[in-house]
Amino acid sequence: MSETQPSRIAILGAGQLALMLAEAAKTLLVEVSCAGQESDCASRVAKVITVDLEDASEVANFAKSSDVVTIETENIDISIVEGLPLAPNARAIGIAQDRLAEKLFLQSCGISCAPFRSVDSVQDLRSAVQELGFPAILKTRRMGYDGKGQKRIYSDGDLDGAFEDLGKVPCVLEGVVRFDAEVSLIAARSRTGEIVFYPLIENVHREGILRRSTVPFAGVTNAMQSQAEGYLKRTLEELEYVGVLAVEFFVVGGKLVANEMAPRVHNSGHWTIEGSKTSQFENHLRAILGMKLGSTDSVPTVMLNCIGKMPSAAETATTPAVWRHDYGKTARPGRKVGHLTLPGSQHEAIERWYLLLNPEE
Ligand SMILES: Nc1ncnc2c1ncn2[C@@H]1O[C@H](COP(=O)(O)OP(=O)(O)O)[C@@H](O)[C@H]1O
Ligand SMILES: [Mg+2]
Repeated sequence: MSETQPSRIAILGAGQLALMLAEAAKTLLVEVSCAGQESDCASRVAKVITVDLEDASEVANFAKSSDVVTIETENIDISIVEGLPLAPNARAIGIAQDRLAEKLFLQSCGISCAPFRSVDSVQDLRSAVQELGFPAILKTRRMGYDGKGQKRIYSDGDLDGAFEDLGKVPCVLEGVVRFDAEVSLIAARSRTGEIVFYPLIENVHREGILRRSTVPFAGVTNAMQSQAEGYLKRTLEELEYVGVLAVEFFVVGGKLVANEMAPRVHNSGHWTIEGSKTSQFENHLRAILGMKLGSTDSVPTVMLNCIGKMPSAAETATTPAVWRHDYGKTARPGRKVGHLTLPGSQHEAIERWYLLLNPEE
């Protein structure tokens, strides 16, 4: 494949990540089709085909008219997608969709994680808390997102209820990390092994949901950026990875402790649309199409998530420098319905919008 030879991309999923990938595809003049439901938000800019992602023959049929298949969520059945021309590959997705496999893999790459234990029963949970102590967090190994599939555990009295509330499925127990900040690093690796990194991003979560991403991270040092880049380089190369990968870290006393990885474009990278020479979405497409990657030169930028409710265009128009991304989803409490991006220099407007979007604080 060359830059002059556009290709056809199939995306498994049609939510906001597929929507923004499809927007980036337009600038590269490549054709995108998404597997999902007609009502999914990517249908505003791309062809969305109704596909049951749990049906192997429907998925194979959807993928056959494309040259490369990519994902917007790691929560897919690997046995269904294994034979497809997937980027990133099935091994990377398989590891990232299972918190236990993910932690063991990150550790095998020399990356430290929060203390954890595998939990398959209440008995396991009992011995795990004896080792890790309170407070701790019980997380389902699979299908967690936006803080779902997690329970905090403060005392012995919480054990049975927590395991039961999570559906008695395989879990991991993690010690609570007393972090100074949360950050993420986003990187892209091309088919020829070229790797580019964005600057470390500071992330603020509430109730397990990302609220704000800021670049640059105020506490970043050259040593920290290099350490994070070294970790991602090892991860990408070990997995023979093609596409965008994000790793979330806790910052503890200037050191990075990995939390989890996402084998796809990431919510903490939405600011790259306006804040970087090449967005994470364009670099993901460039990577999977076999193109050269674009520059990640970036300027100070802040992204604020709109959770549960999207401010109207008239409301955001009162701020001169704000980019409003409305995913066109039905508003629902806790649901990501859009985001705002602001230049990092607009301190007053950033704080004002943060409070408007997160009124309980
Ligand atoms: N071990 C931990 N210690 C402290 N905070 C944690 C821990 N695990 C998760 N959290 C908090 O919960 C958020 C969501 O957890 P995470 O494991 O990233 O799940 P999700 O898949 O929902 O993003 C994290 O960004 C962090 O704020
Ligand atoms: Mg997370």
